[in-house]
Amino acid sequence: MLKIGMFGAWRGNSYIKLFQQDDEIELVAVCDKNTEKLKEHQDEFAGAYLCGDFDEFVEEGKKRGMQAVFLANFFHQHAPFAIKAMRAGLDVVSECTAAGTLKECVELVECAEETGRKYLLAENYPFSTANLKMNQIISTGALGSLLYAEGEYNHSGNNDELRYYTPSEFHWRAWMPRTYYITHALGPIMYMTGSVPKYVCGRAAHSDLLYEIRDWRHNYDGVGMMFCEMDNGMIARCTGCTAMASDYSRYRVVGDRASVEWASGFGDDKVRKFYFHHTKPEDEEPITILPADLSDLGEEGEKAKSAGHGGGDYWITQEIKACFLHGKEPFFNVYRAAAMSATAILGWRSCLNHGENLKVPDFRVKEERDAVRDDDLTPFPDENGEGVTLPCALPVEKK
Ligand SMILES: NC(=O)c1ccc[n+]([C@@H]2O[C@H](COP(=O)([O-])OP(=O)(O)OC[C@H]3O[C@@H](n4cnc5c(N)ncnc54)[C@H](O)[C@@H]3O)[C@@H](O)[C@H]2O)c1
Repeated sequence: MLKIGMFGAWRGNSYIKLFQQDDEIELVAVCDKNTEKLKEHQDEFAGAYLCGDFDEFVEEGKKRGMQAVFLANFFHQHAPFAIKAMRAGLDVVSECTAAGTLKECVELVECAEETGRKYLLAENYPFSTANLKMNQIISTGALGSLLYAEGEYNHSGNNDELRYYTPSEFHWRAWMPRTYYITHALGPIMYMTGSVPKYVCGRAAHSDLLYEIRDWRHNYDGVGMMFCEMDNGMIARCTGCTAMASDYSRYRVVGDRASVEWASGFGDDKVRKFYFHHTKPEDEEPITILPADLSDLGEEGEKAKSAGHGGGDYWITQEIKACFLHGKEPFFNVYRAAAMSATAILGWRSCLNHGENLKVPDFRVKEERDAVRDDDLTPFPDENGEGVTLPCALPVEKK
């Protein structure tokens, strides 16, 4: 039985529902500084200890046998709480992103090494049904040498939706540069190809539409695109989270023998597999359109159907148990998690400097950590609006 605590009960609530359906997980404590909301929903927390302060959550949670915490607090504040939790003897599963600065990437990795605690990033998009289908095909080796991959995550909204997701003046969603929400675009590429970025360059483009709401959303670029050299020799292009006029996300992996791709937004999820005539096995067609259906995955697939993000949240819950209860090494371990945050951070620096090519540190190597150990530049203000050391949008040129 895994006894877990939830820190942050907004996004956290979707996982709480999944934990409550799982015989091997017990929710023992929930912490959110919005204690009114906690009280409102207290029936849903089934006897878990409720509070608004992290230290109290850890102390009271541990009294109730808490072994691990799920961090679903603000996007850019995960690393300090992950470190506190690991130092208190708890394992950590963290929502994206792992860390808000390069300095925090180093601190997070070194804390996991020093304490020996388990750490897992809850990046769920690699486990959406169609991405799992792509991964199934890629892992047979059918694509040959991997050459190129694309991951595009689009998520925008009208002003009412943007307001709803930006509940306060200094909320992270109002200050986040376009490249920073990288994990839903880069995570699937890394998972399917088993690779990690070594270099990144990026470019962003200003949006006149978003500039209209600049008084309360200061990140008015519409797109941030990154181009990476990966450690397996392939190249990859990925977004952060864009506000492009497109209602879907898309993924593509290309080899020298075949390629696979899919995009949401065309009805049922389907994966397209392509072979050249000269590379095609005899029993295959040049083009095959494959349904991405969880039913292919048996009983587990059926259970995943009702979970959020194309079943991705269900598979993350299974991954949490496999790692924390049964000792499995997670794919998104602390090193790969830190590499994703660093790619986003450096991708943004590159955007601000006309696409400069920057080295992504390999956080397993001390010398590479030393090079960024004191780098704490951030576009995010603290709760008083202080502390910003980087712009969160491109400079606006008068037309
Ligand atoms: N993987 C996914 O599909 C997915 C989907 C949605 C959100 N997320 C991630 O989940 C995280 C949370 O996002 P959200 O949508 O819930 O919005 P949010 O960041 O506005 O909400 C965070 C919640 O944590 C609480 N909180 C923050 N700091 C706290 C503190 N110091 N003490 C106590 N409570 C605190 C807030 O009161 C709030 O209820 C973000 O990292 C986001 O990127 C991931």
